[in-house]
Order: sequence, then C-alpha cells, then structure tokens
Amino acid sequence: MSTTHKISILAGDGIGPEVMDASMLVLDAAAKKFSITLEKDSQLVGGAAIDATGSPLPEETVASCQASDAILFGSVGGPKWENLPPDQQPERGALLPLRKKFNLYANLRPGVCLPSLTHASPVKNELIPNGFDVLCVRELTGGIYFGQPKSISEVDGELVAIDTMVYKQSEIVRIAHIAFTAAMARDKRLCSVDKANVLQNSVLWRQTVIEVSKEYPEVELSHLYVDNAAMQLIKQPGSFDVIVTGNLFGDILSDEMAMISGSLGMLPSASLGNPKPVGTADDGADDRADDGASGEAGREECKPLYFGMYEPSGGSAPDIAGQGVANPIAQILSAAMMLRYSLGETAAADAIEAAVDKAIDSGLRTGDIFTGKEGETKVGTVAMAEAIADAI
Ligand code: IPM
Ligand code: MG
Repeated sequence: MSTTHKISILAGDGIGPEVMDASMLVLDAAAKKFSITLEKDSQLVGGAAIDATGSPLPEETVASCQASDAILFGSVGGPKWENLPPDQQPERGALLPLRKKFNLYANLRPGVCLPSLTHASPVKNELIPNGFDVLCVRELTGGIYFGQPKSISEVDGELVAIDTMVYKQSEIVRIAHIAFTAAMARDKRLCSVDKANVLQNSVLWRQTVIEVSKEYPEVELSHLYVDNAAMQLIKQPGSFDVIVTGNLFGDILSDEMAMISGSLGMLPSASLGNPKPVGTADDGADDRADDGASGEAGREECKPLYFGMYEPSGGSAPDIAGQGVANPIAQILSAAMMLRYSLGETAAADAIEAAVDKAIDSGLRTGDIFTGKEGETKVGTVAMAEAIADAI
C-alpha cells in the first residue's frame, strides 16, 4: 500500500540548497523501497526569500507549511543579510516565527559521537572511548526568547535593554513529558538543567519536572545547574542520556554538544508541535499546531505523530557554500527524523540511519570528518549522498 505524505522543502541559504538536493537522493531511495509517495513543495525561506520577495518568510511559504505534514528545512543566513535590522534578518525573521507559528515547542537535538569518529571530537579521546549518544530536549517557544516586554529604550538619559524570561507551568509540563517519553525509549536517565540557585523560572522548572517525574517511575531523574552541566558535558559526555532544559540554556548546551561530537555536519534536529491524535484521518487543512493528524489507522506504528520541522543542527556555513564539499549527513538524518516523528514511516527512517552508518563504516568522509586516518576516503556532498542512497 502506498501512502502519500506532503512535505514542504525549505532549502534556504548557504549550503542549504546543496545538502537539501543531496538528501533528496536518499529520501527518494527510501521512498521507493518502502512504497511511500512524497508530495514535495519547495518554497523560499531566509536570505533567498528576502532577495526574491523582500521577506524572509513569505506568506506562500507559510501556506505551504500549513498544508503539509512536515517541513524539511535547510539553513538560513549569511554575510549578505547581516546588516539588516535584527527582526528582518533570515534567522530571526524566519526561524523564530516558524517555531512560534507552528507551536514547535519541543526541539530534539541528538549529540552523537560514533565510536568510529571519536578522533574527530575535540574532547580527549580517553574520556570518550566508546563515543557518546546524548539527546538534548530544548524548550523552543518560551522563556527569554519570546517573553514580553522586550525592548531597548532610553531611561534616565541612557539606553536600557529588557528581555523577559517567562515560563508558564503548562509549558514546562509538556516539554517534560516529551523528555521523559524520550528517556523511556532510551537509557531511562533524564537530567534536567536549570539555574534554580538564581532564577525563579528555574525554581518553577525544577519543581514541575519533579512533579511530572512521578508519572515515569522508571526514569532516573537528576538535576544540574547550567554552568555545571556545561562543564560535565565536556568532562564526561557519556554520563548523559537525555537532557531537558529551557530555550536559552538549550541553545547554548546543544551547540556545545554538537561541537564535542566531532562535526556539526553530522547532527540532525527535530522541532515538534503537539502530538497528533493517533489513527485519525487528515484533511490537510487548518493549523497543524493544534490539531491535524496523518497517522493512518492500522499502520504498524501507533505512537503519536507530530507536525514538525526538521533541520541540520549546523548553520548555513557560507564559507564552504557552493563548493560541493559540505557534509549532507545532518540533512539526511533530519529527513530520517521526519519520517519517524511526522510521517510514521519507521522502517524507512531506520533504513536511512543504517545506510548512514554503513557509509561511515566504509570509510567515506566529507572534509569536516576527514582526518587522513588509514581507510578513510575523502568525498564530496553528492558522492556521500549517493553512497548512502545506494546502501538503502
Ligand atoms: C538555533 C539558532 C537559533 C536560536 C538562532 C539562529 C535564532 O542558534 O537554532 O540554535 O537561537 O534558536
Ligand atoms: Mg543555536
């Protein structure tokens, strides 16, 4: 039986378009093998959209996303648009509104260092003999990113800047459930990161996470202050399983995690909204943030599916854009996460992830993970994607 899924493809700027094209080779190979029909709608976003329409997030792009089951996102931004007012820049003008508009409150950022790539990590290799596999669950639509008031104004003859950190308990509860659920499917250890020795937000955060933990007695819950968490991540990344934290701390810690894993070019991410009701039909209309469902009754997969946006953790890397050398694996693994969390195509997701491991095991390396060790072959973006597609 063939299933049709609608996806919006937003390639964006920098290396976005080339890694997106490369990822399509792999996605198409998986779709063919598992009889999945993908209806793809490519739209402009970021700097490319500013150049073409004047807006980093044109209405047409939003409409396409609204009519889709998921968004596959490349990357946005670059030197060309850096001098625009902050609100009109690709990152703030496209990414943040997309997150808010689609209520994508749960940001899953895996930080995986494969045992075969530990030498590419800046962490001393004796600290990570078997690599590591950490999942950062970052709250993405609240906290200091979005709290009001937010301003720069003149007070008593000088400029004063205000950002406001706000968390409603319901926002903490829902992200905690996502994190505990993720931990249940992994090693059942969850570390909640906060700054409860200083911030009222964090006092409520910790208290709420402890409250939610009562529903997950099998998960071992621990707490760290964010400054300590930043240290422990470098000292013993292997000691973490799942981390849950707020928007700002998650932004910082997930970059740290990405760096110590060896290459930004390997790491996907998912930003998820509310779970869709299981087994209901989807008419493709309306706001996906609140309802909508594409789960098909009777398919083997019955855990909830989410409307989501999937993107590489690395940025647009303008320094290497257009050269055909960027690592497409983050984009490819983002497509796998999309198949898993939004489309319910678990077998296809598994196949892509296994094919990536196979390509790495065979010694293929893009420049970011090439170290010249025996058995490594340096390849470009397309060759890497072709090898992964072939392995499916
Ligand atoms: C990220 C980015 C964004 C963020 C920026 C580009 C707005 O750093 O996705 O981590 O801070 O969330
Ligand atoms: Mg960031």
